[in-house]
Amino acid sequence: MKRFFIAVFMTGLLFGCMDKTKQETTPSFQKWWKEAIVYQIYPRSFKDTNGDGVGDLKGIIEKLDYIKSLGVTAVWLNPIYSSPNDDNGYDVSDYRGIMSDFGTMADFDLMLKGMHERGIKLIMDIVVNHSSDEHEWFKQSRSSRTNPYRDYYHWWPAEKGKPNYRYSLFDEKGDAWKYDSVTNAYYLHYFSQKQPDLNWENPKLRKEVYDIMKFWAEKGVDGFRLDAFQFAAKDTTYPPFPEGFEKNFIQYYAMQGNLHGYLQEMHQEVFSKYDVMSVAEGAGNTFEDAHNLVDEDRKELNMAYAFEGVDIAKPEGYSILHFKEVFSRWDSAFAEKGWLSIFLSNHDQARLVSRFGNDSPEFRAPSVKMLNTFVLSMRGTPYCYYGDELGMTNIGFETIEEYRDIAAINGYKKVVHSGGDVQAYMKALKFSSRDNGRTPMQWDDSVNAGFTTGTPWLPVHQNHKEINVVAAEKDPNSVLNHFKKMIQLRKDNPVLVYGKYTLLQREHPEIYAYTREMDGKKMLVLLNFTAKNATIELGEVAAIKGAVINNYESVAVKGNAISLLPYQAVIFLLNGG
Ligand code: NOJ
Ligand code: CA
Repeated sequence: MKRFFIAVFMTGLLFGCMDKTKQETTPSFQKWWKEAIVYQIYPRSFKDTNGDGVGDLKGIIEKLDYIKSLGVTAVWLNPIYSSPNDDNGYDVSDYRGIMSDFGTMADFDLMLKGMHERGIKLIMDIVVNHSSDEHEWFKQSRSSRTNPYRDYYHWWPAEKGKPNYRYSLFDEKGDAWKYDSVTNAYYLHYFSQKQPDLNWENPKLRKEVYDIMKFWAEKGVDGFRLDAFQFAAKDTTYPPFPEGFEKNFIQYYAMQGNLHGYLQEMHQEVFSKYDVMSVAEGAGNTFEDAHNLVDEDRKELNMAYAFEGVDIAKPEGYSILHFKEVFSRWDSAFAEKGWLSIFLSNHDQARLVSRFGNDSPEFRAPSVKMLNTFVLSMRGTPYCYYGDELGMTNIGFETIEEYRDIAAINGYKKVVHSGGDVQAYMKALKFSSRDNGRTPMQWDDSVNAGFTTGTPWLPVHQNHKEINVVAAEKDPNSVLNHFKKMIQLRKDNPVLVYGKYTLLQREHPEIYAYTREMDGKKMLVLLNFTAKNATIELGEVAAIKGAVINNYESVAVKGNAISLLPYQAVIFLLNGG
């Protein structure tokens, strides 16, 4: 049997014939935030400079050249505001202050300047579905029923009896109402007891939030990610919900009341006045919900951030057919209008390679390269989470004492309290806990991976001896160098940003194949999602000009059949459109 190999073309050769359309005209559909490649930094875990074991803004400043070397064009920073850290900064006690663990406003200004000097934009996390219970607003609000800040939050007077049940994601009993004896009333907290929900029905509160956003926009930040905002509007009569609604709580919590009105007001007050991008967290329950959030004529937000894709991976695995189906369905729903975020990991998920790839020593590198190829070759704005450029893996704690995340700890208490299966809970946590995705960045092979000289707030993964930036920078075949190449490829080829997406061979059980096409330029993406060799036959093979990126040295082609090695990921440039 005669086999021949198409060697990987030197990327420079192909970059020579890149699309020049962008320079010639700038069609209205082109936007910087669509072309952005976002790198998400969890500041607590990125780089500590004062030995207290907690990452800080000076640490980010120290690593700005590294961030630039990745080629990413924007950074999304998890919250850095003053906070008692019940939920690692998602409980804000002062929206204009910097968390003392992270540094000072002077550090922030320097960091922002340093990013802008390097052509990197900054997206801030805005957490305004709730604040901290230590925010001055809440202190005032809880102090008396007649305090001017009372209506900044949701209160239910106890003389009316217990309010109808609301589910809390982080409460150890799952109850979102907390009784407060000071005023004999309950307050609402969809997240922890220390994260009381803000009352968006109050115009005074809304104005405060817009002023806060303007404060950061005036400082020069380039965008906002709206934490849990789909839950912000509420029916303040608190009608009963059907029993068991918590299993499907998003249906009851998301996109309620006048949410779209508030977003249009925010657009008018903030987004329309600055060159900032805006991204929702969550996208409601239907495509219609998602379109209503982000279609341009709605004047609300720029892009949706839908969870259906990231939710596919389960401890027992996932089906590649399901994966293809979900991403293809979302792409086609947004092909004409609206814009999506593309991501498979973030600070609320376990590690990319452990969830969606294969973190065994044999397949870790090829599988994470394959996943990075996917995220960076889809239509939509890609979000890459710190450490995934190295292929960092789950730490997999065994005991509850090792966890730091309130979701894990209170979830454990809830299971114990309700007499649930603790062993099953711990097993699930080991796979999916948020702490898996929050272990410190692995900079080098020294003790604590160069993250801190002190004791890290969360242990460093022991595999930092092999998986770290210093080692990866030296190795031309590293996950890191593949990531950089893939970013360069996307930046040089607007077809990968804007081009039409077509799924090929929907039913192929191992390979995800699709084309991207625009203005006479066409690329074929082939991704083997399995640990076995896999072959696909495609008419497109006849049009192959060459491979523009490949996570192996070569790729086997025979006739119109292409055989891929385990987790092989190749993008081909095709002749014609
Ligand atoms: C969503 C954030 O991504 C998550 O980390 C946080 O715990 C909750 N919202 C509450 O703010
Ligand atoms: Ca520190």
